[in-house]
Amino acid sequence: MHHVRPPSIITIDGPSGTGKSTVARLLAKRLGYFYLDTGAMYRSVGLKVVRNKIPWEDHSAIIKTARQAKIVFRFSRAGIQKIFLDGKDVTRALRRPEISEAASRVAVIPEVRTVMVSRQRAIGRQGRLVAEGRDIGTVVFPKAPLKIYLTASAAERARRRYEELKKAGHPLSYKEVLHQTRLRDRRDSRRAVSPLKPAKDAVRIDNSRLRLSEVFDTIESYI
Ligand code: DC
Repeated sequence: MHHVRPPSIITIDGPSGTGKSTVARLLAKRLGYFYLDTGAMYRSVGLKVVRNKIPWEDHSAIIKTARQAKIVFRFSRAGIQKIFLDGKDVTRALRRPEISEAASRVAVIPEVRTVMVSRQRAIGRQGRLVAEGRDIGTVVFPKAPLKIYLTASAAERARRRYEELKKAGHPLSYKEVLHQTRLRDRRDSRRAVSPLKPAKDAVRIDNSRLRLSEVFDTIESYI
């Protein structure tokens, strides 16, 4: 992988539950790149909105919250990435199902996206970055030399999310998870600003039946 210089920014987009995070995290580790989890940024805003009990209709309060939220990525000694919101470790709290929902809700507000996108670009200026999200290849880094679009069937994605939630101690029925997956897909891909869609020059990989190593082989061949 290190024979040629890898692209300075690699974007990985796609719907939730495709294994995007695992792929992005591992790829960043292998290349010695920074892993930018943009979903965690929207989740942080969502968490802050929920904690401050701001009503979903109050867009101006949500936008203000987004502007004021201090979101910092830090590494533990074990090399695990932690997310700090206003100085507190929220890594685990961000994964709660109601925060997935909250993130998806705040992410439809154009001004919230503007704030997050400019922060993401500021981080991107340093280069050597694997950035994961929904609009990274289309909006945030449209000139990135390598763009991946990872997909998988809704049923497969819901199955994975169901297993993840069970392990994390948030048991929901598979049916409920599938329902939420479809709802979130619809909200993410039909919103007016930066809807989820592959960039024209993105490499599409369907992860429904591939093993992680096969996804890697494909990505490596493009690197
Ligand atoms: O990837 P994730 O599940 O952590 O993302 C949480 C929500 O944030 C998801 O519903 C869509 C939104 N999101 C977004 O709109 N744009 C991004 N670049 C990343 C996430």
